[in-house]
Amino acid sequence: MSVFTYRDGTLHAEHLDLSQAAEQFGTPLYVYSRKALEQHFLQYQQALGDCPGMICYAVKANSNLAVLNVLARQGAGFDIVSQGELERVIAAGGDPQRIVFSGVGKQAAEMRRALELGVHCFNVESEAELERLSQVATEMDCSAPVSLRINPDVDAQTHPYISTGLKDNKFGIAIDDAVRIYQKAAALPGLTIKGVDCHIGSQLTDIAPFLDALDRLLLLIDELSAQGITIEHLDIGGGLGVTYQDEQPTSIGDFVSAVKQRLAGRSLALMFEPGRSISANAGVFLTRVEYLKLNQHKNFAIIDGAMNDLIRPSLYSAWQDIKPVAEHSDAPARCYDVVGPVCETGDFLGKDRTLAIADGDLLAVMSAGAYGFVMASNYNTRGRPAEVMVDGDQAHLVRQREGIVEQFANEQQLP
Ligand code: LLP
Repeated sequence: MSVFTYRDGTLHAEHLDLSQAAEQFGTPLYVYSRKALEQHFLQYQQALGDCPGMICYAVKANSNLAVLNVLARQGAGFDIVSQGELERVIAAGGDPQRIVFSGVGKQAAEMRRALELGVHCFNVESEAELERLSQVATEMDCSAPVSLRINPDVDAQTHPYISTGLKDNKFGIAIDDAVRIYQKAAALPGLTIKGVDCHIGSQLTDIAPFLDALDRLLLLIDELSAQGITIEHLDIGGGLGVTYQDEQPTSIGDFVSAVKQRLAGRSLALMFEPGRSISANAGVFLTRVEYLKLNQHKNFAIIDGAMNDLIRPSLYSAWQDIKPVAEHSDAPARCYDVVGPVCETGDFLGKDRTLAIADGDLLAVMSAGAYGFVMASNYNTRGRPAEVMVDGDQAHLVRQREGIVEQFANEQQLP
């Protein structure tokens, strides 16, 4: 059940009235629930049960230090794609040995830092990267644990921008080249083969594409074994979808169980890299209505949040629910486009929403805990929003609102 519910006429996060959070911290504001983060992580953890493996939260979905720390305290592993994310996990108390390092463009310095800290595995995405990693590890006189990210060429049936497992995508190593490149990895110095990895896309609501990919990877693992290459773990990536509107994604428990079942009888550890399914529905984006603009053909609710704060609707035409924080209102219900102050027609958070609202009302954009703040920018010289984590009836400021001084800090004028 959602931790965001109406009580006594206002929307709450756990036991905290969201209008109180808006008063205290201002808007626009991201609000996360500790309980929801923990619950979603626990669902993965419990479904994995005593099967060896790890749940590595995909840091890119929401990398606030407090979010990472809450998950680290639960024993989470982490999936990272940059040195920045690596340093975040360490700063938040994460265990380097529970980190997998993904990403198509790892730089030598990033590899060095990850080797220094002793990450669990590098998910290598190309032959050239494999060669570079071998060189870096050899120079450091150590051995890098590697998985090859295999592109299994399955259609994840999701938005083309977030579909990653087709041959046309830039990600991973084509499955047809996999055996040859594993042989190369086995022959190169400074590498220890650990696993096979894939990630086929994001916001997948059906598990069929996952199971397709899995079957292809299991065939590959058998072939590698016949060639004397032993695989210790299989990393199925992230990608499980969530409900934004009326999607009915497979539950976390059923997803993990189905994957586990396919692996029965094999001595393979199992890794997952979930992002969205842990943090999306653990957060909302709070914004205040500045003006109502009632035109002859269209009504606009102009809010203080914008595409620079939450870009998913503009970028992917993503639909996220928009709820008034006050459950009841005397204002007339009208159909609105909910738009921000940024100078772009594409600056909207929702279109054609029926809302009973007045100037000054608070709105909550739901399911905003993943790919929300992390994709925020300073477009139009707007400071990025503050972030708050609710724990029971307490609200903790976990990132200050970005001010003008911070925005100018790294800039200089000519002498
Ligand atoms: N592992 C890898 C290698 C990934 O590339 C991703 C996401 C994940 C795990 C986590 O996937 P998730 O469980 O969150 O679906 N900005 C887009 C989503 C981009 C996803 C990129 N990769 C959005 O807002 O919908």
